[in-house]
Amino acid sequence: MRVALAGLGDIGLTAHLPALLRNDSVDLVRLVDPSPQRRALAASYSVPTGPDLDLDLAEVDGVVLATPPWVTPELVVRYAKAGRYVLAEKPVATSVEAAAAYDQLDDDQRRRVQIGLTYRHDPAIGQLATWIADGTLGDAVLVRAHIYDEPFRPDDPEHIERITATLAHGTPVVHEGAHVFDWLSHLLGGQPESLDDAWSQQTRPELPAANLVGARLSYPGGHRALVEFGWLTAALPRCELTVLGDRGLAVLDGFTFDLTLTTAEGRREVRFPGDRMTRCFDRQVQRFVDLYDGTRKAGEPSLDDGIAALRTAQLVAGRAS
Ligand SMILES: NC(=O)c1ccc[n+]([C@@H]2O[C@H](COP(=O)([O-])OP(=O)(O)OC[C@H]3O[C@@H](n4cnc5c(N)ncnc54)[C@H](O)[C@@H]3O)[C@@H](O)[C@H]2O)c1
Repeated sequence: MRVALAGLGDIGLTAHLPALLRNDSVDLVRLVDPSPQRRALAASYSVPTGPDLDLDLAEVDGVVLATPPWVTPELVVRYAKAGRYVLAEKPVATSVEAAAAYDQLDDDQRRRVQIGLTYRHDPAIGQLATWIADGTLGDAVLVRAHIYDEPFRPDDPEHIERITATLAHGTPVVHEGAHVFDWLSHLLGGQPESLDDAWSQQTRPELPAANLVGARLSYPGGHRALVEFGWLTAALPRCELTVLGDRGLAVLDGFTFDLTLTTAEGRREVRFPGDRMTRCFDRQVQRFVDLYDGTRKAGEPSLDDGIAALRTAQLVAGRAS
C-alpha cells in the first residue's frame, strides 16, 4: 500500500511515521506539511517531502492525516472523493457543525475512511469490555474516567504554545473526549442515553478557554460514567479509568494501559507486551492496510464513530460552559 503522511507535527513524526515505517505492507511515498520547519525535521527519513499532496496524489493509495481538526475535514473529503483510503486523526472536526462537511461523501467513500481513535485498538480495552460484558465486575457499572494530560511546563514554551492554541479551538473534552467517549460507547454497549450534568473551570485568566471540564452520563444497561479532563496545571491528578461494579473493580492506567482487577477472589494484574503507543499505532496501521486490501470492508473506527464521539464531547462542552 503506497501511503502518504500529511501533517508532520508532534503525533505525525513521533507515532504515525515510525508505525508506517514498521509495517512491511506499507510503502511510505510522501511526507507532506506546509511548514518548511516541519519538513526539515523529517528530512533524515529519505522519503520525498512536499508542502501539499495534490500533485502527487496519483502515486498514493492511502493518506494518513495527522493534521489539526480545523484542517482535517477538508482534506478527508478531498482525498476520499479522489478515491483514496484515508486514516484521519481525531477529533474528526472542531464541531458537529464543521463535521457536516462529511455529508458530501457517498457510502463507498465513507467506508474508506478510518479514524485515528487509536487506543480503541489496545487489547486492554478489549479485556475491559469482556469484564464488563461477562459480568465479572457486576451488572451495571460506574466508570470514572480521569483524563489528565499535558501539564504546564514553564521550561517548554513550544508545548505551552501548542496546547494553548489547541485550547483556543475547544476545551480538553473536545480533544481528549474523542478517545474517551469512543472507549465508553465501545465498553458500555452504545452511545450515552443522557448527559446528566457537566461543569468546567478555568485555572488562569489568560488561557483561551476552561482547562478543566467534567460530566456525568448515563449509558444503556444502567451504566454510569463520571468523566474529567484537565490540561495545563503545574501538577495533574493521576490519569486513569476505573470501572466499579458490585462484584469488582478494574483500573486501567491512563498511560501504560496496564490493568488491575480486584474481586472477592483477589487481585490480579494484566499487562500486554510492548508499550501502549507502539502497540496501538501498529494495530491501527495494520487495520488501515486490511481496509485497503479488502480484509476489512469498512474503516474501524469509522467516520460515524468519530462523529458520535465528537457529538458527545460537544454536548458536554456546551453544557459545561
Ligand atoms: N491518536 C492519538 O493518539 C493522538 C495523539 C495526539 C494528537 N492527536 C491528534 O492529531 C492531530 C495533530 O496533533 P499534533 O499534536 O501532532 O499537532 P501539531 O500541531 O503538532 O501538528 C499538526 C501538523 O499539521 C500540519 N498541517 C497543517 N495543515 C496541513 C495541511 N493542509 N497538510 C498537511 N499538514 C498540515 C501543521 O503544519 C503541523 O505540522 C490533532 O487532531 C490531535 O488531536 C491524536
